[in-house]
Amino acid sequence: MIDRIKALTEEINCLTATDAQAAEALRIKYLGKKGVITSLFNDFKALDSDRKRELGQPLNILKNLATEKISALKEAAAMAPDESVAGLDLTRSAAPMPLGTRHPITLVRNEITAIFSRLGFTIAEGPEIEDDWHVFSALNFAEDHPARDMQDTFFISRGTDVLLRTHTSSVQARVMEHTRPPIRIICPGRVYRNEAISARAHCFFHQVEALYVDTNVSYADLRQTLMYFAQEMFGPETKIRLRPSYFPFTEPSAEMDISCNLCGGKGCSFCKHTGWVEILGCGMVDPNVLDACGIDSKKYSGFALGMGIERITNLKYQVKDLRMFSENDKRFLEEFTSAR
Ligand code: DAH
Repeated sequence: MIDRIKALTEEINCLTATDAQAAEALRIKYLGKKGVITSLFNDFKALDSDRKRELGQPLNILKNLATEKISALKEAAAMAPDESVAGLDLTRSAAPMPLGTRHPITLVRNEITAIFSRLGFTIAEGPEIEDDWHVFSALNFAEDHPARDMQDTFFISRGTDVLLRTHTSSVQARVMEHTRPPIRIICPGRVYRNEAISARAHCFFHQVEALYVDTNVSYADLRQTLMYFAQEMFGPETKIRLRPSYFPFTEPSAEMDISCNLCGGKGCSFCKHTGWVEILGCGMVDPNVLDACGIDSKKYSGFALGMGIERITNLKYQVKDLRMFSENDKRFLEEFTSAR
C-alpha cells in the first residue's frame, strides 16, 4: 500500500483542470464515495494494528494533499475569465461616472471658514438641540425677550427648556464655558426658527458665528477682521460700512453692509438703489456674557459676529428663492459643478 500512496501523491501533485467541472470530476475520482483514496481508507480498515500504525499517517497526508489540491484547482477555475468575456479588453478604462456636486451652502461655508482660519480661527461646533441657557440666558437675553416666544423658537416639548437653537451664538457660550482665553473660533451650523416658508424665509437655515476673546481686544480689531473677510469673500474692491444696531449679547452692536457687489455701489434694484447690502451682525461681547460664561470681564474683552450662509450665497450666486437650497432640484445643484 505504501507504494500506491507514493504513486498517488505524485499523480495528485501533477493534476490540472481547465474549468470548474473538470475539477469536480477530479474530486469525485479521488475523494468521492467510490473514489480512489476513499477505497484505500476501506482497505486500511482491514489491516492489522502494526500496519495501521505504519500507514495511518501517510494515508491521511495523501487525503489532505488531494483535498487541498482539488480545492485550489476549483478556486483557480472560478477566477479564470469565463467564455462570455473572452475577447473583451479588460485593460480599458471604465466608462466615466458623473460625480456629485457640492451643495452651494457647503461651498460657501467652506469658503467662509477658510478665510477665518487664515486669521487663526479654529472651527467649533455645538448641538442643534439646545437649552435655554446657551441660546438665550447666557447670552444676556432678558426674561421677556420676544425671541424666547413659542412664535419664534421651536421647543422640543412643552414646559421644558429644550429647544432647537435659533442661532449659532449658542456655541459661543458653550466654548467660553470650558475654554480659557485666548479664544478664536468660527462656528458653522444649522439653526431653526418658527417662520412660514417663503422665497425669503425658511424654518431652518445656516449661520456662521465668529468669536474672539483675549486681553485688549478692541473694536478696531473687529473692524479690521470684517474688512479682511469682506474683501476676501467679495473681492478687493469691496467697501464696508458699520451701522449701530442692537443685540442682547454685544455692546456696542453693529450691522455690517458691504458695497453692492452687483452694481459696485452705484445703485441697482438688488441693493434697492442704496449701493449697500447688509450681510452680518456683530459687536463687542457684552461683559455680562463673559461673566455668565465664567470669563473675567475686567481682564478680558472680545468681539463676535454672526452671518447667514444663505444670505452670503445669495449675494455670491444671486439665488432668488431660499427654498432652492433645500429642495434638492438637481438642475439647480448641478449649476455649482464647476464652482470651487
Ligand atoms: N445671533 C445673531 C442672529 O442670529 C447674529 C449675530 C449678531 C451674532 C451679532 C453675533 C453678533 O455674534 O455679535 O441674528
